[in-house]
Amino acid sequence: MMSHPPSSLFRLDSSTGEAYYRQIYTRLRSAVADGLLQPGDRIPSARALAAELGLARGTVEAAYSLLAAEGYVEARGQAGTVIAAGVRPAVQAAASKATASRPRTVAVPARHPLLPEEGQDEAKGPRPFQMGIPALDAFPRKIWARLAARAVRATQAADMLYPSPAGLMALRTEIARYLQLSRGIDCRAEQVFVTSGYRDSLNLITRTLLQPGDKIWVEDPGYAPSAALLREAGMQLAGIPVDAEGMQVEYGLRHAARARAAVVTPAHQSPTCVALSLPRRLALLEWAAREQAWIVEDDYDGEYRYVSRPLPALKSLDREDRVLYAGTFSKVLFPAIRLAYLVVPRSQVERFRRSAQLFSGAAPALTQHIVADFMAEGHFARHIQRMRRLYAHRRTMAIAGLEGVLHSHVRIDSPPGGMHLLLRLQGRRSDRLLAEKMRQHGMFSRALSECLLAPRAGVAPMIMLSFTNIDSRRRAAELARRILPLLAPA
Ligand SMILES: Cc1ncc(COP(=O)(O)O)c(C=O)c1O
Repeated sequence: MMSHPPSSLFRLDSSTGEAYYRQIYTRLRSAVADGLLQPGDRIPSARALAAELGLARGTVEAAYSLLAAEGYVEARGQAGTVIAAGVRPAVQAAASKATASRPRTVAVPARHPLLPEEGQDEAKGPRPFQMGIPALDAFPRKIWARLAARAVRATQAADMLYPSPAGLMALRTEIARYLQLSRGIDCRAEQVFVTSGYRDSLNLITRTLLQPGDKIWVEDPGYAPSAALLREAGMQLAGIPVDAEGMQVEYGLRHAARARAAVVTPAHQSPTCVALSLPRRLALLEWAAREQAWIVEDDYDGEYRYVSRPLPALKSLDREDRVLYAGTFSKVLFPAIRLAYLVVPRSQVERFRRSAQLFSGAAPALTQHIVADFMAEGHFARHIQRMRRLYAHRRTMAIAGLEGVLHSHVRIDSPPGGMHLLLRLQGRRSDRLLAEKMRQHGMFSRALSECLLAPRAGVAPMIMLSFTNIDSRRRAAELARRILPLLAPA
């Protein structure tokens, strides 16, 4: 019986994109399956292994807790962590020759029932062109880890109680300050409600201000989750077409003037990326004031504009206080953080406070603390500035790489802002079919026709591709060569 696995077992590979905790987990599982580690064998403490591999201790602990949850290892107090009794190698005879990187053939259940079944495969990074994901390689992980460790260490009894359903005041204050400086929004911290994502924000709005049966303007094409959530809440949707100036407000005035609310993406219309023009912004605000209707401004990536400074938010023009401003940390930090915010009209603060108490489970306090510190110490503003420069560069590289290969099949629009490109398909091709084929081939793509409220003829075929994680022109060209055969008629 060995007391320690050889350190070569843990040789990690940074080029695969597989998270380190996952690599450690897989290596140990394989070592058990291959008989290299036996019941009762001790594995290094999380602290020692983290030091040896130059990783954060939490990374190793994440791997160990997964292994413990699946019954591979057990903690024995002073004796450390050992391979659990009863775990059997799959092929006993192969034990002496086994190497850590051998494929898994295994003895114990492959998947813990509580691990996520849907969405991303945790082990992999974003798929090529996956929309809405910021440049994960450029996230300042060291700073984040330092602030996170400090916040954990500073935890007091008061931090362990139920947090306020509206969010931590420190974070709400930072958000209000940030919105003032960068989005031209004049609001107090009391108007800011921290939520666990845009959908949570929208849900809070429907619960607080709307009633089933209310008519709501939504952009068509638009962001499908908004429409789905509103429909589910019993709202009657009025699809408002979009053109080069954004939502056609005059269409709404003509066909559905008596609506209770409008949900818009003014900075970069989702998914066409066009900005809502100033005359339309003013017409929308005027309509809302006249009808006493609400405007939900979904400003999911307004910070990212490359040809000029970011446009001020619609909320910054809102003299009558009809706009609910919804922001998210998904694009400026990372989506797994599940943190967003909502700025509500002053007159509605009390109502929102009551419905947050009822409907909001409150965002995790620790995460809120870390983000508040990240903002207060200036890392947030610096990170956004760096990302703006990086995305401008990646956008240019992605266009050059894609155009070099696909130029006779597509025309690439490069909108002034946002996180994705629009590829107009030449000829009578189906954008939906191409998007589906790309997804089948391990890439990501969204077709414009998939973003319509209902199928409609005469919409130019177009697919959307994110460039934020495409780090070179060569990589873009490589991917374009994978798209090329998929453009052939089916
Ligand atoms: C149009 C739009 N709104 C909002 C969001 C943000 O959603 P969340 O805060 O749930 O990540 C996204 C994310 O992709 C989006 O594309």
